[in-house]
Amino acid sequence: MNSESVKDNLSLGTFERVHVDAHNSSSVAAVKVAEKIAALIQARAGEGRYAVLGLATGSTPVPVYRELIRKHKEEGLSFSNVITFNLDEYYPLERSHRESYWKFMQEQLFAHIDIQQANIHLPSGEVSRDEAFNQCREYEQAINEAGGIDLQLLGIGRTGHIGFNEPGSGSESRTRLVTLDAMTRRDAARDFLGEGNVPRYAITMGVGTILEAREILLLAWGRSKAGVVKAAVEGTQSDQLPASFLQKHSNTRFVVDQAAASELTRNTEPWRVGFVEWTPELVRRAVAGLSLKVGKPVLKLVEKDYNENGLADLLTVKGSAYQLNIEIFNVLQHAITGWPGGKPGADDSQRPERAEPKSKRVLFLASEPQEDILGAGGTIHRLKDQGHEVTIAYLTSGGLAVPDEEAISALDLTSALNRLSGAPAAKGLQVRIGELKAKGLLDEDSLEIREVKSAIREAEARQAVQLLGIESSQLKFLNLPFYSKGRYRRFSVEQEDVRILAELLDEVKPHQIFLTGDQADPSSVAGIHFQLFNRVFKKFLTEADWSAQTYVWMYRGSGEEWPIHEVNMAVPLSPDELRNKITAAFQHRSQHSQNPYALLEQNESWQRTEYLNRNTAKIYDALGMAEYEAIECFVRHHP
Ligand code: GLP
Repeated sequence: MNSESVKDNLSLGTFERVHVDAHNSSSVAAVKVAEKIAALIQARAGEGRYAVLGLATGSTPVPVYRELIRKHKEEGLSFSNVITFNLDEYYPLERSHRESYWKFMQEQLFAHIDIQQANIHLPSGEVSRDEAFNQCREYEQAINEAGGIDLQLLGIGRTGHIGFNEPGSGSESRTRLVTLDAMTRRDAARDFLGEGNVPRYAITMGVGTILEAREILLLAWGRSKAGVVKAAVEGTQSDQLPASFLQKHSNTRFVVDQAAASELTRNTEPWRVGFVEWTPELVRRAVAGLSLKVGKPVLKLVEKDYNENGLADLLTVKGSAYQLNIEIFNVLQHAITGWPGGKPGADDSQRPERAEPKSKRVLFLASEPQEDILGAGGTIHRLKDQGHEVTIAYLTSGGLAVPDEEAISALDLTSALNRLSGAPAAKGLQVRIGELKAKGLLDEDSLEIREVKSAIREAEARQAVQLLGIESSQLKFLNLPFYSKGRYRRFSVEQEDVRILAELLDEVKPHQIFLTGDQADPSSVAGIHFQLFNRVFKKFLTEADWSAQTYVWMYRGSGEEWPIHEVNMAVPLSPDELRNKITAAFQHRSQHSQNPYALLEQNESWQRTEYLNRNTAKIYDALGMAEYEAIECFVRHHP
């Protein structure tokens, strides 16, 4: 679904309080932003002046920085007349820490361009608390002395923060020391290899400081930002969502991809914004949405419901509510199937999957262990029970997500078992335990420790899938090099990654592929998984016969489910199947939160999944379908 179905955005301004540019993909958007920055730098250079840039960290601006570096290297764009001010820095944190924003900016941009080091400014996380106040004042002074910021780049956190202005930050706030929100620290846990390692504070430019920039571009990619983008663009200004204060600024744009724009009214209810072309998807969206909104099953909707909810136009196009209701009821109903691999011998003209071949080769791709189970554990179990040949391939080990404590206890246990059996301690075991215990926040894991962490996740994966009837021999750990060599937010795909995945597809020649990641932040592991798959699969489509017969199904990542109107296959789970799936997800013990209260807050990934699967069943029930315990959803993908 995209905003192109709106023919005429007559009422866009009624909903959107700040200008939004929605691009088809983040890569297109990033190129546009880089062009704008380059134009500013060159215009200033022409006048013999400096361009003053406000810069951001996080994964979001990375594609912009990569494009700027390319322009520098290939097109000769010079940064010699550029002064930069970064938004923020963790506190307390040494500049040399692998996760400091100082280091991040050096690695992602500054080291690759011809900017003068003296023109780079970032708050320091190294000063004492007493000095922090002065530092903040001086930072503001330096911005003023440079003539103010010409162009400020921003990302947005899931709490609605800009810089590190967490909820509660006023629109007049200045550069200062702040406390990080629990959700922000959780989001940073992967970078710091454990929530406990994430600093509790940060120094950030204030909202007021940001609003003084002459131009502001806020960037956001991926579905996980869609809710907060909607709130910032369409909601009222409030210190509970500091990004909403950007509405005050007359020269601000939100530059987003389709996934991040997906919750804006222009996409969720485009008929309220202008004249629309009623595509089948849009009709499903409208009718399912109406049913849930007025609290009536689809077959009970009457013309009055349509007319009173801005859908009179749809009725005119479709004839009558009666016809429309039946049409949509049938589409929704046909998506529900207990036979995700197709029902052998049955008429499959209205079913999501083909009846033949009776036993299919099914390939599940997961960017790392547990994603498969959270997204599709019940379906994997069914496919196996229904006689299909299931292979699960993990693109990466997920080892980066294992906290040090987990690795230490695994090594401790191994050495205790060694002692018990009288076996000589495995070579290097004590050394690794020592290494981990001595490891400061500054240190990266050695290759050996990385291997230990990967082994932990592989063992958990094997244990988990057993509960779904899958044997170890059906698992493939691809260990793609982009991950084994990389770090969060800094991954880059290589030819070797492409080769390994292609080899797997060619070996399995699947009738069905299940994967995820199309709605993910493109720089995340799941996002890379999806791009890589498309690249490889498109090649097969032109070169190999088997691929034309393959159905590709998308499952959603952890904590998310497809909106009902997009679903092409909905697989109901019985109470026992749900319990079994959740027990399987629970086996990924290294992924349990380090914070015991996460359990009480229902924040563990297996808890969120259980809630989502049950809730999906409730939604189908509310629409007037049969009442199930839980449901997993899939969308057909056409690469
Ligand atoms: C951190 C940064 C923000 C950034 C946000 C989102 O909190 N301080 O400036 O916008 O993360 O990060 P990402 O771009 O990785 O989603």
